Amino acid sequence: MAADHTSAPVLEALADHRREGRLSFTPPGHKQARGADPAVREVLGDAVFLGDVLASGGLDDRLTRGRVVQRAQELMADAVHAEHTFFSTCGSSLSVKAAMLAVAGPHQKLLIGRDAHKSVVSGLILSGIEPVWVEPRWDAERHIAHPPSATDFEQAFAAHPDAKGALITSPTPYGACADLRAVAEVCHRRSLPLIVDEAWGAHLPFHPALPSWAMDAGADICVTSIHKMGSGLEQGSVFHLRGDLVEPKLLGMRADLLGTTSPSVLILAGLDGWRRQMALRGEEIMGGALELAAETRAAVEDIDGMRVDGRGDYCGPGLAHDFDPLPGVVDLAGLGITGFQAADWLREHRKVDAHLNDHRRIGMQITHGDDRRTTGELLAALKDLARAAPGLPPAPRVEVPPPAGLRMAQARLPRDAFFGPTEDVPVSRAAGRIAAEMITPYPPGIPAVLPGERLTEPVLRYLTTGLAAGMHLPDPSDPELGTVRVMARDAE
Ligand SMILES: Cc1ncc(COP(=O)(O)O)c(C=O)c1O
Repeated sequence: MAADHTSAPVLEALADHRREGRLSFTPPGHKQARGADPAVREVLGDAVFLGDVLASGGLDDRLTRGRVVQRAQELMADAVHAEHTFFSTCGSSLSVKAAMLAVAGPHQKLLIGRDAHKSVVSGLILSGIEPVWVEPRWDAERHIAHPPSATDFEQAFAAHPDAKGALITSPTPYGACADLRAVAEVCHRRSLPLIVDEAWGAHLPFHPALPSWAMDAGADICVTSIHKMGSGLEQGSVFHLRGDLVEPKLLGMRADLLGTTSPSVLILAGLDGWRRQMALRGEEIMGGALELAAETRAAVEDIDGMRVDGRGDYCGPGLAHDFDPLPGVVDLAGLGITGFQAADWLREHRKVDAHLNDHRRIGMQITHGDDRRTTGELLAALKDLARAAPGLPPAPRVEVPPPAGLRMAQARLPRDAFFGPTEDVPVSRAAGRIAAEMITPYPPGIPAVLPGERLTEPVLRYLTTGLAAGMHLPDPSDPELGTVRVMARDAE
């Protein structure tokens, strides 16, 4: 029977819950807003509390006999050509760990593109999986990393035939996409699974002009943040499964290790609603976003000193395979300012927030939630920024090493370095020592340093000069990098 995408089981059950005037003697303790502080209700609105009900024993009965979330997951799987879908209310940070744990265990090898998000590195620390790093494709001129190619994975498997599978990030937060079909083939020739961290690709299944998406390209598990490019609420993420290389029950059990026993029904409802919206009108809605992005990109190109990274910049031999235009990455090198300065200026002077920002770029993500009013304001703000740029203090220089200089040797397992004896040493004396922590410029959240890597001077200089220029490093023990946490000498 064809799936009925006009239905949205979680939203419908929530509407029933409200209509029936259910009285709960269960969590959440705010009891449909009645117990919440009026000042909180005023800011959040009662809708937030009314939708915040217990998932089993509230939204559904205690044995989930209505299969409310189950039916919503099945509809999601149908909409994106997966065989199984799992909802996560803990972001793709949970989903990607669940996927990793379903493919490899402690001391087993997993091939991973080194441009992975910090949640992947957290997964390595928690699990004891041994990473075999696969080099991204580096664009040395633009200082940007694109996903590794199928050949890169082929070579890594040849060198590590005992690896249990592979993990690749595509699209990158900048919108560069891998040749997923070719990478999946490399894995499947060995009957090994491919995990795609497609956190930035919620929209991809719904328009033919967007890059091919993981389930269609033959990946086994794919992780997607519905809150990033889709209409889900923050933390709303899904992971999908196809094929017979990973057992669905096992994936569910591994996810259960990490997840909450109190999933937010608000977040589940957001996932369910997004699926219905896309299944019914996805192509039309995404077509509109693509058109708007194309117009906006062209208009930004006309601003003196700004250029928008495009397909021609990211794709080609030795670079990425495909390109998503929606992240809208603006290169500011022509203005002589950093992305950090630009983001601060736009926020302070024009109340406009950019997502990505690095030593030379800002990201102006456009989604189906934008329209000509919002992009008009964006363009006006960017023009003002271009006019203001000459008056900004000279951009502090970030010493970005060439690609080879960014790579450090993985001397110890991330888990062993993280949990072993450590000491904090001044950054000036950290080169040569083994890192015992992650140091991650955020956004986009790709660790420059991860536990077990032997620190080098160029990487430390990149981070200290970056910090002085406004880079945000939320995760090290000393966010100001006066000291760095390293493995104790006698534990190395
Ligand atoms: C590539 C990638 N994977 C995973 C994540 C984690 O996603 P979430 O924020 O939904 O936990 C992010 C977040 O930025 C990401 O960029």
